[in-house]
Amino acid sequence: QTIFRKDYTAPAYLVDTVELGFDLDPARTIVANRITLHRNPASKSRDIVLHGEEIELVQVRLNGKALTASQYRLTPSSLTIPKAPADVVLEIETLCAPVKNTTLSGLYVSNGNFFTQCEAEGFRRITYFPDRPDVMAKYTVMLRADKQLYPVLLSNGNLIEEGDLGDGRHYAKWEDPFKKPSYLFALVAARLVCQEERYTLKSGREVLLQVWVEEGNLDKTDYAMQSLKNSIRWDEERFGLELDLDRFMIVAVGDFNMGAMENKGLNIFNTKYVLANSRVATDVDYAGIEAVVGHEYFHNWTGNRVTCRDWFQLSLKEGLTVFRDQEFSADMIGTDTGRAVTRIDQVRTLRQAQFPEDAGPMAHPVRPDSFVEINNFYTVTVYEKGAEVVRMYQTLLGRDGFRKGMDLYFERHDGQAVECDDFRAAMADANGRDLTQFERWYSQAGTPVVTASTRYDVAARCYEITLSQHCPATAGQPDKLPFHIPVAVGLLDANGKDLLLRLEGAPSPKHAPTTVVLELTEATQTFRFKGIDQKPTPSLLRGFSAPVVLEYDYTDAELLHLFSHDSDPVNRWEAGQRLAMERLLVLTSAVAAGDTLALDDTFIAAFRNVLTDDTLDPAFRELALILPSETIIAEQVPVVDPQAIHGARQFMRRTIGAALRPELLAQYHANQTPGDYSPDAVSAGKRALKNLALAYLLIAPQDADLALARQQFEQATNMTDRAAALAALIHSGADASASLASFYADFEQEALVVDKWFAMQAAAPGTDVAAVRQLMLHPAFTLKNPNRARSLLFNFANANPPQFHAADGSGYDFWAEQVIALDKINPQVAARLARSMDRWRRYVPALQVHMRHALERVAARSKLSNDVLEVISKALSN
Ligand code: ARG
Ligand code: ZN
Repeated sequence: QTIFRKDYTAPAYLVDTVELGFDLDPARTIVANRITLHRNPASKSRDIVLHGEEIELVQVRLNGKALTASQYRLTPSSLTIPKAPADVVLEIETLCAPVKNTTLSGLYVSNGNFFTQCEAEGFRRITYFPDRPDVMAKYTVMLRADKQLYPVLLSNGNLIEEGDLGDGRHYAKWEDPFKKPSYLFALVAARLVCQEERYTLKSGREVLLQVWVEEGNLDKTDYAMQSLKNSIRWDEERFGLELDLDRFMIVAVGDFNMGAMENKGLNIFNTKYVLANSRVATDVDYAGIEAVVGHEYFHNWTGNRVTCRDWFQLSLKEGLTVFRDQEFSADMIGTDTGRAVTRIDQVRTLRQAQFPEDAGPMAHPVRPDSFVEINNFYTVTVYEKGAEVVRMYQTLLGRDGFRKGMDLYFERHDGQAVECDDFRAAMADANGRDLTQFERWYSQAGTPVVTASTRYDVAARCYEITLSQHCPATAGQPDKLPFHIPVAVGLLDANGKDLLLRLEGAPSPKHAPTTVVLELTEATQTFRFKGIDQKPTPSLLRGFSAPVVLEYDYTDAELLHLFSHDSDPVNRWEAGQRLAMERLLVLTSAVAAGDTLALDDTFIAAFRNVLTDDTLDPAFRELALILPSETIIAEQVPVVDPQAIHGARQFMRRTIGAALRPELLAQYHANQTPGDYSPDAVSAGKRALKNLALAYLLIAPQDADLALARQQFEQATNMTDRAAALAALIHSGADASASLASFYADFEQEALVVDKWFAMQAAAPGTDVAAVRQLMLHPAFTLKNPNRARSLLFNFANANPPQFHAADGSGYDFWAEQVIALDKINPQVAARLARSMDRWRRYVPALQVHMRHALERVAARSKLSNDVLEVISKALSN
């Protein structure tokens, strides 16, 4: 059943207060819920509609009187009380069984402890309630549980009372002073310990910060705590937003569907985004913790204080909050190239995951118009493209203009549940700008293609850039209207220096800039730069100023020029990617045709120059030397032959590794980071470059290279180096079984490291379906834990194309089996795995046949969840 954005109606009743009482028991938890409601003047209906799923109704009382079955309507998903009075107190008692809840939505048990996950529609699995984000109420929560088993009882807001109940049970009463939608409710009842700290806000007010984990993990909470304090400070400084509670808690849980959840005052996190020390966590893990801690904290304003009217508006809070966490991470590094490195990472994510989504069967606008299962719309489009849309406001309005828009947004909407349009209106009104056309970024799916052409007029000393845009059709949207696209542009002279730019028809500022933002609003527009004395090289879409595909007929010479000189690091990186992609496409055809393969010296020389240029940040050099992924290459070819793509990319990596062997070895040794481990960006960048060098050396390793990797593996003092060495060994094709075994023995008690152990093997081109099946039999493997399932199954399906796409279709059969098996346990996770087949229609016909069979096999199952059904049926029909 499809739900449409246009069908929104205001709730018939609004809730003022919620009092919840929990008698927590894994098999039989009693939930008592007293809500006061009043009729919404904005609605004509007199029916109270409450959502409820997988809970057993014990009794319901209205204004003190028990209702008989004829006075309400009960379905498997709702409880309706027709013709209710204007003011109502409802008392509802229900039962649920958290220990049986493997969906990890609602109230569930993980490693013997109770946790909740209510976004998007999990609260209805706890009690009957109008479980929609536009119903905001004040909550008081009483928790009762066994004192031995669950010494810690947490909920949103402030602890107002706690004590013993005498019978081995105890209680805690929590009150959240802020109105909130039900999706922000949370409770934890657990045996946990915390790192805590009193922290003074800029205003002088003191708050209590806590990070709660299982006892054995108390040595892994420092970085999360530090990230939380940095987040609090950053939001004060950059946006003038202060923590509004006296107490802020982060709780880590090993079984969690997503990254983390911004419940008011009680953020619940996947352990992956909390736990870190140098022994178990990599630089990438540290960066992920900083970003996610920031993200959830920033939601307190962008999400919680101002929330979404309905779930179609999800990007209102997610796109904005991702943008905020991206800016936070960039500011934490502080340097210009550091910022650029984070930006390049964002571009890679978009191309790797969002562009394919936007071109596939699940394509949807940043603000979707319909969905079957909202959990399927927590996507890279809503999150990452949504963040790009927010970034474009800042690009168009400037940092100060953006801040004015944010201020007006909070001034207007604090305490409200609003729409994406309200955010756009605040940006427009605060800056006196017309952003009507900008709305198309929210309503039209698909990645726009911007095509540039240029003309130099020597006589007129004028350089012309003509930009055209079109957007490919997506499901349900055959025709698109022009977008409002900021295209940041610079021009390089023959020495690689930026020219000072004076745009015809625009006011000329006192100091001519070296980058200007062209605003493309029509299908085609021409922009003229005056006073240009020689034909320049254009640097287009600097900083990746819009989430588009930029097409321009660059010559190799121009790309080489940009790759060595562009002052914009993003475009400097981009030039290298274009040089590589051109060749990868040629090589892919050559592999498919069985031709001999070759790579030109010019390209090798360009890579050598960047690799050895010690004036460049190691972090930047590392990114510049990573070739476009097989997934990104696949998006560039008309028909995907995964083996040919893999062969081409491997050939290129092998050739680079062989040609640059001395330079790679030199960089390997030059970028060691002796002394105590620190996850700072400079050290992490050195490790990244060093380990990339190692990976190149190990594609076709000499004995000395293998020895180097083994030595790093054995002597590493941090997980970044240890894991990189192990991955390089696995990918080298040499026998890595001894290293794998010792790694496992060292870390079998560390769940997040065991995940890495599975993930590395799943992604290695030597791991075929049979080997993955073997790994599933390992005692540490379970489908029930999402991190574990993702580490093996998702990495195999998404990061091991040559094996997943085995010619006999065995990878797809395996995929179908696992989607079906997972769906019985956890539909949300199953639906994510189902997405691995999104692009099936682009593959060579022989593979398509197998893929269709696998899809149909899943579709033929009788009891599929809505989650999986939506993904599979869209894949088969679009
Ligand atoms: N709001 C959370 C975040 O972005 C994501 C929670 C989504 N959960 C879900 N089951 N769909 O931080
Ligand atoms: Zn979020």
